[in-house]
Amino acid sequence: MDMSTNYMGFDLPHPLVPGASPMAGDLDTVRRLEDAGAPMIIMHSIFEEQLVKEESYVDWTLMQGQDSSSEASSYLVTPYEFRLGPDAYLKQLQKIKAAVRIPVIASLNGHTPGGWISYAKLLAQAGADGIELNLYDLALAPNRESSDIEKESLTVIQAVRKAVSIPLAVKLSSFYTAPVHFVAQAVKAGAGNVVIFNRFYQADIDIENLTVKRELKLSTSDELLPRLRWTAAISGQVDCRLAITGGVQNADDVIKCIMVGADAVQIVSALLEHGPKHLAVLRAAMEQWMQDHEYVSVKQMKGSMSLARSPDPELFERGNYIRILQGWNKPVSRTDAHWS
Ligand SMILES: Cc1cc2nc3c(=O)[nH]c(=O)nc-3n(C[C@H](O)[C@H](O)[C@H](O)COP(=O)(O)O)c2cc1C
Repeated sequence: MDMSTNYMGFDLPHPLVPGASPMAGDLDTVRRLEDAGAPMIIMHSIFEEQLVKEESYVDWTLMQGQDSSSEASSYLVTPYEFRLGPDAYLKQLQKIKAAVRIPVIASLNGHTPGGWISYAKLLAQAGADGIELNLYDLALAPNRESSDIEKESLTVIQAVRKAVSIPLAVKLSSFYTAPVHFVAQAVKAGAGNVVIFNRFYQADIDIENLTVKRELKLSTSDELLPRLRWTAAISGQVDCRLAITGGVQNADDVIKCIMVGADAVQIVSALLEHGPKHLAVLRAAMEQWMQDHEYVSVKQMKGSMSLARSPDPELFERGNYIRILQGWNKPVSRTDAHWS
């Protein structure tokens, strides 16, 4: 069975990649991932705020109004909350590079061009085999237009592309009105690889204490559906390599991702839950499924459910929407009591 694929300019033996997470913060875990067959390592992100030097960090927090109210000081990050500062991040990258033989991808999360460019150069110099730009910009001000945000993101991609020659991926949020158009623009700006979609963690509210509750819940397969839809819409229309992240728990999920056109499938929650060895389990289950269904390669399966295969993708999607709504039936059991 030929499970090979190509992502971020690398020929990979199979498409199952551990996604950005604290797993890369621990060398032993990184080695165990490689032993389990990981074809590349994606480091957790370094955040733009971490790139601000110690002294200017004070200015930055003041600018953000951290000291203007006690409430503000509870939700802004403070330096000690960051796991690795810029120097430690570069050192960890070098340690990982020395420990494994697979490509190591660094991850940058920011929202202004400045810090990204110089740090992207440092990452490349430190030996990163590629960079994943983790784009995240929450538009909370009424005068910020979606087009402004998209332009800023594209400027960042262009600037980083110009600054380094190593492969570049952009990891997108799902908050775009027209994701296919934005992906096309991002690719034009220089990101040859696109990750769909980051999973952002929304804080809940503690109504007794009037505070925010920050709790990270691992994903479930339900989260895969919007990723499948948009990958199906992008693949075949935009010339780039695609990775799906978010909700991949089992081999069926991986197969769905490939069928909609993904070149790689990033996995985090399932590995955090079951450990690095789970990667090998998923890979074996995927291969078995492909054998049972007489596929000979990942390439053969890739894109078989892409919307590019549909004569009228918009009509098809609207048809799905209408059928799902109109096909709903009152559950036979349990809820009867509520309905009578
Ligand atoms: C504990 C934890 C830490 C994460 N850290 C990062 C990060 O630093 N950068 C990033 O781009 N994504 C980060 N992610 C998001 C994952 O890379 C991934 O996109 C997300 O968890 C969805 O994949 P999953 O459903 O397989 O978990 C993190 C996820 C978890 C659970």
